Amino acid sequence: MKMLDHIEELSWAYWKSQVIFAGVELGVFDLLTERSKSSIETAQELGTNPRATEMLLNALVSLGLLKETNGKYENKAYTSEYLVRGRPLYQGERIHHMHNLWDRWARLQEAVRTGKSVVGDTVTDPKRLEDFMASMHSSGTKKVRLIVKKFSLKSFKNLLDLGGGPGVYSIEFVRANPGLTATVFDLADNIEVAKRCIKEAGLEDRVLTRVGNCLEVGLGHEEYDVVFVSNLVHIYAPETNIGILKKCYEALESGGKVVIHDFLLDSSGAGPLFPALFSLCMLLGTCEGASYGKKDLETWLLKAGFKRPKAVRLDKDSGLVIGEKQ
Ligand SMILES: C[S@@+](CC[C@H](N)C(=O)[O-])C[C@H]1O[C@@H](n2cnc3c(N)ncnc32)[C@H](O)[C@@H]1O
Repeated sequence: MKMLDHIEELSWAYWKSQVIFAGVELGVFDLLTERSKSSIETAQELGTNPRATEMLLNALVSLGLLKETNGKYENKAYTSEYLVRGRPLYQGERIHHMHNLWDRWARLQEAVRTGKSVVGDTVTDPKRLEDFMASMHSSGTKKVRLIVKKFSLKSFKNLLDLGGGPGVYSIEFVRANPGLTATVFDLADNIEVAKRCIKEAGLEDRVLTRVGNCLEVGLGHEEYDVVFVSNLVHIYAPETNIGILKKCYEALESGGKVVIHDFLLDSSGAGPLFPALFSLCMLLGTCEGASYGKKDLETWLLKAGFKRPKAVRLDKDSGLVIGEKQ
């Protein structure tokens, strides 16, 4: 019976996703942060239908995101921390990005039949690109804290942040390491967003930018002492990644390190759950991407010339794999 419940729950699990998308995008959590409100008050302030709003609020309570006392609803402490716009660890943009992926997940069977992406490799719609960068910003603010704890950048001076997106990692790395300068390298449209974030952080003198496509151009010759490659290798096939890592090797001084940050599959390839499902997300959204395991990354590092590859787990889904240039 328990297994039957499990099967049934999987068939309607997407209802839960739609409930959190609605909560975030309608602004429910922004509203219920200071004081509790009835469903009628909530509906008035959100401009939504009162009966439907009560249903949504009750669903949010059942998912553990709100609490209800005497007909008044309010955020739980953790919902206020992560789901209220403007809070330092706000994750609403990440959740909105997950909603944007809805259409492609609906075409999973087509992708499995053909083995091909249903959307192509790059995000071209400017609004979608902006949403994607905002999502990377949300997830980065959370992840960078873990990385700073597990890998010290104290001994480095010059970091290349390859495929650095909005530059969150570089910004936090230089903040935590006064002797460090970073360069965010990315495609032209993304560098525009990175420049904005760097300016907002007031770090234009210590976080530089470089526009380029790392599949088409080199990354320089012995210019950096550390190259950070975060969430880039899952976009590409193993051979492509070895080519990228060879360019990282060339760009590093001797004694320098490459630090790959990504989701990591275990040796079975069927877990942990998020990386296993993320592989399908890459099938849907990229030409040749997938999730990989620690062994894959270590093998590529050796093939690219690096020595002593070493893995550091960050959390249950992700880790760092580090290689050294001798
Ligand atoms: C999934 S995002 C990761 C962003 C950031 N490093 C992070 O961990 O949040 C991948 C980034 O790599 C960039 N990228 C992908 N292919 C690239 C290429 N061939 N050359 C330069 N940047 C690339 C994308 O534009 C995007 O900003």
